[in-house]
Amino acid sequence: MTFTRPSEAVQQSLFPTPATATSVEEMTFPETYTGLAGFHKYWGKKPTESLAYLIENCTGEGDIVLDPFLGSGLVSRECLTRNRRFIGIDINPFAVEHTSFLLNLPSKKEYYQALTEIEQSAAEQINTAYKTSDNRIASHYLWEKGNIVSIWIKPETGRNRIEIEPSPKDVDYFLSYQNYQAKHFRDLRFFTNSRINVRPGMSVRDIFTGRAIRNIDLLIESVSNYPLHLKRALLLTLTSASGQMSNMVFAIKNRSNCRKNAKAGKTEVGSWVIGFWLPDTHFEINVWNCFKNRANKLLKSLPEQRETSFTISKDPESVDVSDYKAWLINSDCRTALGKMPSETVSFVCTDPPHSDRVPYLELSELWNSLLGYTVDFEREIVVSNAKERRKSKSSYNSEMTEFFMETSRVLKSYGFIALYFNARDEESWRYLKCIEKISDSLKFVGSFPIVYSAASVVQDNRKGAMKNDYVLVYQKRLADSRHQLPKAFTDIPGWSSQFPKKSGSKSK
Ligand SMILES: C[S@@+](CC[C@H](N)C(=O)[O-])C[C@H]1O[C@@H](n2cnc3c(N)ncnc32)[C@H](O)[C@@H]1O
Repeated sequence: MTFTRPSEAVQQSLFPTPATATSVEEMTFPETYTGLAGFHKYWGKKPTESLAYLIENCTGEGDIVLDPFLGSGLVSRECLTRNRRFIGIDINPFAVEHTSFLLNLPSKKEYYQALTEIEQSAAEQINTAYKTSDNRIASHYLWEKGNIVSIWIKPETGRNRIEIEPSPKDVDYFLSYQNYQAKHFRDLRFFTNSRINVRPGMSVRDIFTGRAIRNIDLLIESVSNYPLHLKRALLLTLTSASGQMSNMVFAIKNRSNCRKNAKAGKTEVGSWVIGFWLPDTHFEINVWNCFKNRANKLLKSLPEQRETSFTISKDPESVDVSDYKAWLINSDCRTALGKMPSETVSFVCTDPPHSDRVPYLELSELWNSLLGYTVDFEREIVVSNAKERRKSKSSYNSEMTEFFMETSRVLKSYGFIALYFNARDEESWRYLKCIEKISDSLKFVGSFPIVYSAASVVQDNRKGAMKNDYVLVYQKRLADSRHQLPKAFTDIPGWSSQFPKKSGSKSK
């Protein structure tokens, strides 16, 4: 069997029930994303230690925490394992799906069982598509300018791959799948965005080979009859592996021996990170192997027992957390917040879209297509390079102001908003600087830098960008402006009652 048996897997609990409070040191020097937090890519994940520290110090048990820009949803478990109730909103269906997965994990055993069944029912059929002219199963095809130039095969024993030259038969075999039409996922919708290398009319056929599309269809069919929580975990395993299944995996050539195990002059396999770049020299990787590798990674992080304690509602019409521990809503947050009663939430902990940094819906289009979701691009708050979307800095500022006003209405008096933020230009900070002029109850109380972000892949490296993200803290205060701040804030290294400022610029 090719999956790691549960008994052999190391239990890596990312979300242990906290025995002791999170210290300010842990928050300041967080660990990197491992276990469940590292399983699926999402751009702009925030370290769980800082989320935990803020939740512990801004709320008590039973309080409601709101994240209106959920993303991967890591904050949800930080709340629920600390007995806080949680409302999470995101316009991206993928984000709500991933959070539902985190709150309804299958057990290691049932996931393993499902994988072995899928292996029996689908692996052979998928592998047939990668049969070489000498009847072996290819693991990788190296493509150069539209031609297969090398085929890699995993040896039965040992680690060294076998490389063979493609024969005309291998090319014919590839071509026999090339006109395959996807049955189980929708085609992509793109705008003209050179920043992520997409254009209208670009389709799944530009991103995957016909045989990859056929094999992805087979995987979707093979997971379709499992109970919802298991099917979700299996589909997210597929989306998580989809970048490696595509034509976007670049080949690293002639790298000097700078990395352990990397032999000078040898071709190495890159990994898909962000955007839709289709390099001339790229790999086509066996879809079953991609799925199996991700599945084995997830298997290591799943709990021994299925958790049943996190009851989730997804009804966007009547938000009522009295009967539920978590409420997840796939919608524009301004619309969803508009349906919530005033003064219900004790703490808002969120990482909103940072102006033009990451166009989340455009980047998640591949995953949403595989999951079969359609997307509300109209209501996304973002600044996009795609001009036809008309998502400018000015509309961004007014939409974020709308969001802030609704959030402040649902926040209880003396409740805090902790907002993770960074943007390159002054204009994108405008709404934050104006809040106090528009709202008579929200007060900016201070900010602190999030040091980890300097090394993050999605940190903005363009000219003028700030090195760190910041957490900006606001409090809903009525007339009483002398309210004391908890020491937990002022203890944080770098805490300042000033707005973050760019080096060289004057603070306002
Ligand atoms: C910076 S990301 C959050 C990332 C998150 N901290 C994580 O750990 O993955 C911002 C999120 O805002 C969402 N978003 C954008 N416009 C929205 C809107 N109008 N309503 C709700 N969510 C929206 C995006 O889909 C994206 O997931």
